[in-house]
Amino acid sequence: MPDTLVPTRADSAARRDWWQNAVVYQIYPRSFADTDGDGIGNIAGVTSRVPYLARLGVDAVWLSPFYPSALADGGYDVDDYRDVDPRLGTLEDFDTMVTALHGAGIKVIVDIVPNHSSDRHAWFREALASEPGSRARQRYIFRDGLGPNGAQPPNDWQSGFGGPAWEPVGDGQWYFHHFAKEQPDLNWDDEEVREDFKRTLRFWSDRGVDGFRVDVAHGLVKDLSEPFAPWSEVSVVDRPDGSHPLWDRDGVHEIYTGWRRVFDEYDPPRFAVAEACVHPSRRARYASAKGLGQAFNFEMQDAGWCAADYRKAVDSGLSQALESGSTTTWLLGCHDSCRVATRYGLPTEVGRTPVEVARDWLSTDGATPMLDRALGERRARAAALVTLSLPGSAYVYQGDELGLHEVGDLRPEVLEDPIAHRSGGREKGRDGCRVPLPWSAEPAEGTSFGFGPGGAQPPQPEWFGRYAVSVQAEDPDSTLSLYRTALRLRAELDTDDSFAWLDSVPDADVLCYRRSGDWQVVANFGSEPVALPAGEVLVSSAPVVGGRLPGDATAWLSVPGA
Ligand code: BGC
Repeated sequence: MPDTLVPTRADSAARRDWWQNAVVYQIYPRSFADTDGDGIGNIAGVTSRVPYLARLGVDAVWLSPFYPSALADGGYDVDDYRDVDPRLGTLEDFDTMVTALHGAGIKVIVDIVPNHSSDRHAWFREALASEPGSRARQRYIFRDGLGPNGAQPPNDWQSGFGGPAWEPVGDGQWYFHHFAKEQPDLNWDDEEVREDFKRTLRFWSDRGVDGFRVDVAHGLVKDLSEPFAPWSEVSVVDRPDGSHPLWDRDGVHEIYTGWRRVFDEYDPPRFAVAEACVHPSRRARYASAKGLGQAFNFEMQDAGWCAADYRKAVDSGLSQALESGSTTTWLLGCHDSCRVATRYGLPTEVGRTPVEVARDWLSTDGATPMLDRALGERRARAAALVTLSLPGSAYVYQGDELGLHEVGDLRPEVLEDPIAHRSGGREKGRDGCRVPLPWSAEPAEGTSFGFGPGGAQPPQPEWFGRYAVSVQAEDPDSTLSLYRTALRLRAELDTDDSFAWLDSVPDADVLCYRRSGDWQVVANFGSEPVALPAGEVLVSSAPVVGGRLPGDATAWLSVPGA
């Protein structure tokens, strides 16, 4: 990794590359804000909070799926790719939301789920009503079962959410599903499937959507030729050579070349970011200008709270950016992972990442005792000032700007995640980071903390009130105020992509780097205070006293002439 990247940022108001260094706020629509009192957030709820998003200072929002869905997987089971779930609103509500966001200078990215539809999609219903071998079945992945009457699955492969990856349909055939059985995988060898997704991309682009987050972008093309490899082989996924039958096959890029042509029909071209959980050496291709344009870099989300892990994650992200010719992405959490404040507030365990420790904590306990809330929040604030100060895009998961913790002790009967159901309750799944946001400290409207007039699903715990927007907005020391300040400063300071490691604080627990202009960053991952280099402190995640930055803290400085 070279020490310094060459500045590349264009300085134009209506930039075609607006996304390259955008701060993107992820909205999980069902738990963001509810205006109609059914306990499920809706599109009008997003519209009602546009002033909040504008005041926060984000450049774009990414909406997780809001399409008609049985919610077997939180909306990632899509019944109809070109409509809005009636529980969340209408297409007109969507248009109103886009207009309001654009009016506030905020771009709109929507989630596209091409690997699988829901089992309620018209195509899948037609497939079930049709004969084996029929045209309707070709849009999905059907195979004959083994043994008498095809009573055994075609092979021993397992689904990502637990249990077999094949489901019988009663006539000797089985269909393949990577995820829940309500999410049959589409057959991307089928021309109609390919053409229909281009129609969907145009449908939303024509409605003013600026970009797409592509779900499971690395899974569309599969090699299902027989004989099948056994699951013991197929379960080894982290391959650097594209040889896996299900993941990251080279053929997937042909699809994205076609999508790029669709994106380029628009001015400015539509943008896309790939969720591609692939070997880091293979991620750049998803992010290339001929492909989707950008790819998520999950290394920081997986990093332990230590300088070495963060340095490795930064180097890896910046190398990928150089390789792809795009910018990289930084994120600390999303709707699929335990909240960052909680991950960093749990005890560390040698040889295990905070993600792994949190997973165990959730499934065995999930109640507070092991969790040091204050420590987790301190580190999450420090981590935020790192991710928001790096070249590239920063993705912020809703509620992380409040320092929200995971709700680890949701009662089994309110859990919705298929991971919880398919593991027979052994794993809690992802509902704890999807609890609706607290907007006000007093549960004035029904039973929720300002989320909506009819309660919240899953229910908000009593302690959520302390994290409410109404409390934090007035407190200059709150995490919300920290994010607001950092985003405002970033807009002023982040003028080019330059980056260089510095050794101005020689301490193994400290990372220092220079960004554009006079901007320097010092992150202290240790527990002891360190002396900051001379300069003006622009913002810090914890008070700087006598020129010393406390442990578990990050500061942004202006150091002229350094
Ligand atoms: C989404 C998950 C979802 C899965 C299946 C992902 O990677 O982020 O929330 O469960 O795809 O669609």
